[in-house]
Amino acid sequence: MKQIAHMEKYPNAKIISLGIGDTTEPLPLLIASAMSKYSHLLSTKEGYQGYGAEQGNKELRNAIAATIYKDMGIKDTEVFISDGAQCDISRIQLLFGSNATVAAYVDSSIIIGQTGEYMRHSGTYGGIEYMKCGPENMFFPDFAGVLRTDIIFFCSPNNPTGHAASREQLEQLVEVATRNGSIIVYDSAYSDYISDDSPTSIYEIPGAKEVAIEISSFSKLAGFTGVRLGWTVVPHELSYSNGFPVHKDFDRIICTCFNGASNIAQRGGLACLSDEGRKATKNLIGVYKENARVLTDTFASMGLEVYGGTNSPYVWVYFPGRKSWDVFTEILEKTHIITVPGTGFGPGGEGFIREKCKQKTKEKKEGQKAKEKKGSEGRIHPSSPREEAKGEQE
Ligand SMILES: Cc1ncc(COP(=O)(O)O)c(C=O)c1O
Repeated sequence: MKQIAHMEKYPNAKIISLGIGDTTEPLPLLIASAMSKYSHLLSTKEGYQGYGAEQGNKELRNAIAATIYKDMGIKDTEVFISDGAQCDISRIQLLFGSNATVAAYVDSSIIIGQTGEYMRHSGTYGGIEYMKCGPENMFFPDFAGVLRTDIIFFCSPNNPTGHAASREQLEQLVEVATRNGSIIVYDSAYSDYISDDSPTSIYEIPGAKEVAIEISSFSKLAGFTGVRLGWTVVPHELSYSNGFPVHKDFDRIICTCFNGASNIAQRGGLACLSDEGRKATKNLIGVYKENARVLTDTFASMGLEVYGGTNSPYVWVYFPGRKSWDVFTEILEKTHIITVPGTGFGPGGEGFIREKCKQKTKEKKEGQKAKEKKGSEGRIHPSSPREEAKGEQE
C-alpha cells in the first residue's frame, strides 16, 4: 500500500526494493541443463515418467542424506522431498493439528487456527508464546521466561535477524525440548550461507534426532524459488509423548496430501548436490553475500547498529528509540528504497528494519548511492531526535 502511494506521489522515481526479496541470479548452467535434458526425455517413450514416490526420488533422498547431513547419521528414508519449505511448514501444522501449543512462528499457525485473537495494543496473537530474540540476548530466547509448548519453531540462520545460532545455543534448545517433551521444527533454509563454525543443521547436536524435525529448501541453496523444491527430515527416533513415531504420521500426511515434488525439479536438485553443482551453488551464494556485505558496510558507516549479513542474506538494522514504520517511511521518502519494518515479524522487531540483499548488482550499487546521497540531503535519523540530541550534548 505504502509503495503504491509512494509511486503515485513520485511517478518518475526509480524505486529500489530491498524488501520482500527473491533470488535474482540465474541458475548455474549445469543445473538448468540437467532439468532441460530430463524434460526432453519426458517427450520420449523410454524417458517418460508419471507419478513418482510421494516421499521423493530415492536417489535425491540419498544425496541429501549423504551431502547435507554428512556424518550426522541421517538416513535417506528419513528425508521427505517437498515442493518447498513453506508448503512443508503448513503440512507440519496439519500433522500437529490446531490444538498444539506453539512457540515463535506466527504465519502458518494462524492459517491452521493455532492462535487466538490478534491483540492490536501489543501486536501479538493470543495462544502463541513469543520468544523475544535481540542483540540483548544474542538473538536467542531466555527459555526461563517462555511457557512450555508442544512445538517450538526455530529458524537458523534466522529470517529476519540474520543470526545463525551457535552450538551452545542449539544445545540449550535441544535440552529444553527434551526436558519439556516439546518437538522442535527447525528451519535451516539458509544453512548454506553459514561461513563460521555455527552448526548447519540441528542434527549436529547430540539428542536432536529424538526431538527435532528439520525443514529445508533448494530455494536459497540454489535459487530454486521458482523451480520449487525442498525437503523435511523426520528421524525414526522422534516420537510423540505416547511413544507413537512421528515419522509414520508424517509419511501418511505426505501420501494423503501430496503427490510428490515435480520430477524435473528433483532432477535439478540432484544436479545441485553433485560436486560441480555444490561448487556452482556456493558461488551463487557468494554473490548474495557480497551484496549483504555492501549493505552492512553502508549502514555501519552511517553509525547504525547492523546485525546479520555474514551467515545470511539478511541485514537487520537498529534505529534506537524509533518506530520501524517511521524509519521505513523516512527511508522511502528520502531514498525511494523499500525495506521491511521489523514489526512485520512480531513485536520484538520494533526499532529494526530488515533489508534482504537479493537485488541485482546494478540495483545494489544504485541503492548504495541513494543511501549515501541522503548524507548530504536530508539525513536519515539513526535514533529518535531526543536520543540524538542527548548524544550530541555528550
Ligand atoms: C527462513 C525461510 N524458510 C523458508 C522459506 C520458504 O522457502 P521455500 O521457497 O522452499 O518455500 C523462506 C522464504 O523466504 C524463508 O525465509
